[in-house]
Amino acid sequence: MKSGCGPGRRSQPWPWTGTRLCFGALLLLGLCCWKTTGMATPDQVKPIITMEQLLWVSGGVIGEVNTFRVPLIAATPQGTLLAFSEARKYSSYDTGAKFIALRRSQDKGATWSPTSFIVDDGSLVDGLNLGAVVVDSEQNMVFLIYTLCAHYIRCSVSSTMIIRSRDDGITWSVPRNLSEEIGTTMFAPGPGYGIQKRHEPKKGRLIVCGHGTLDRDGISCLLSDDHGWTWRYGKQPLHGIPFGGEKLFSDFNPDECQPYELPDGSVVINARNQNFYHCRCRIMVRSYDACDTLPLENVTFDTTLVDPAVAAGALVKSGLVFFTNPAHETERVNMTLRWSFTNGSSWWKEALQIWGGASGYSCMTALDGSAPDDAQSLFVIYEKGREDATESISVAKISISGQL
Ligand SMILES: *[C@@H]1O[C@H](CO)[C@@H](O)[C@H](O)[C@H]1NC(C)=O
Ligand SMILES: *[C@@H]1O[C@H](CO)[C@@H](O)[C@H](O)[C@H]1NC(C)=O
Ligand SMILES: *[C@@H]1O[C@H](CO)[C@@H](O)[C@H](O)[C@H]1NC(C)=O
Ligand SMILES: *[C@@H]1O[C@H](CO)[C@@H](O)[C@H](O)[C@H]1NC(C)=O
Repeated sequence: MKSGCGPGRRSQPWPWTGTRLCFGALLLLGLCCWKTTGMATPDQVKPIITMEQLLWVSGGVIGEVNTFRVPLIAATPQGTLLAFSEARKYSSYDTGAKFIALRRSQDKGATWSPTSFIVDDGSLVDGLNLGAVVVDSEQNMVFLIYTLCAHYIRCSVSSTMIIRSRDDGITWSVPRNLSEEIGTTMFAPGPGYGIQKRHEPKKGRLIVCGHGTLDRDGISCLLSDDHGWTWRYGKQPLHGIPFGGEKLFSDFNPDECQPYELPDGSVVINARNQNFYHCRCRIMVRSYDACDTLPLENVTFDTTLVDPAVAAGALVKSGLVFFTNPAHETERVNMTLRWSFTNGSSWWKEALQIWGGASGYSCMTALDGSAPDDAQSLFVIYEKGREDATESISVAKISISGQL
């Protein structure tokens, strides 16, 4: 394990050297200590939406982009919110050429920068797919990982790409091809955020989980123990069954997923149940070794979290676990926020409906500042529409306590 400051000594350095790492680490000393404010009690948790706005609208009205999809959101140690999405240039398809769109907010979601397109894949037939954003709070860096050629449409090699920002998301590196070090097995991160371990074991580790092709599928996690300089896969993924074969209805096919860390240092991965094995609900797998292994014996199904097979949001905040998805067995409608006082082993009887209509993928984040507003707010970004969830991407600010 590497400690201290300075650029990595490993092979495959970034195009720039890391001269500012020490400085970043010093700046962070004042921010590093996560408050573990006592856990909220049920009477203190009455979530309401305090603000909501559309960040992107599909239909060629923003930069002539046909469709915005797959929203991600993250908070930096400086308190900036970063919202990303796939800007699908010519169609709504998962394949096709795309940009990665970014908007930043420095005032807790009140206003957002104009859209910048931080990656352009040109005119690829099987262009980029998001993706996962992961923040290294210890080194003050933001990474974004995405895939090229995820569907093998007129291309034969899939690549896992990574970009990073050291200035709070203002500028981004040129893409680095992670496949040179991890191989070219198709890996679709998230969609969602990756985590940095806050507790032992492996405090400080960066963890980005994702899935394979729909045939092979299953969940694996990319791990970095040196602040994103080098990455490797965990030792034991969670395979689909039948492994490597075409899946039928009700086969075991864990797919798009979101990890979160519990206070005991274990990591839960909340996953899309693509073929509805066991239930029309979410698959969970819990790892006790920081995602080196995703043991089959610790797979469970959460029948409360009814789900139509979609990418969902999950977040630990102020001792609670939050979950968002379109809460419906078959349709992508009814974007709903749930919360748990029991580390996600049960969910509070009430839920907050964020949007009753068409709603798809979602992702959550929260600011870690000391202001009361930060302690009791969370942000949900999600696909929202009147008829179809791909019409727009919206961000909602939630007051956990129900106070403005
Ligand atoms: C990434 O690296 C792999 C392995 O070397 C290679 O096969 C692939 O073509 C590279 N992808 C890109 C986009 O350069
Ligand atoms: C599975 O979970 C139990 C706790 O329920 C834990 O004690 C055990 O070590 C886990 N198994 C593995 C292989 O991590
Ligand atoms: C929306 O989700 C809530 C919470 O699960 C549920 O009670 C309600 O019946 C759902 N509504 C629709 C229309 O599916
Ligand atoms: C949640 O996990 C923490 C750490 O293991 C534990 O102290 C706490 O009691 C758990 N909460 C509940 C309600 O089970």
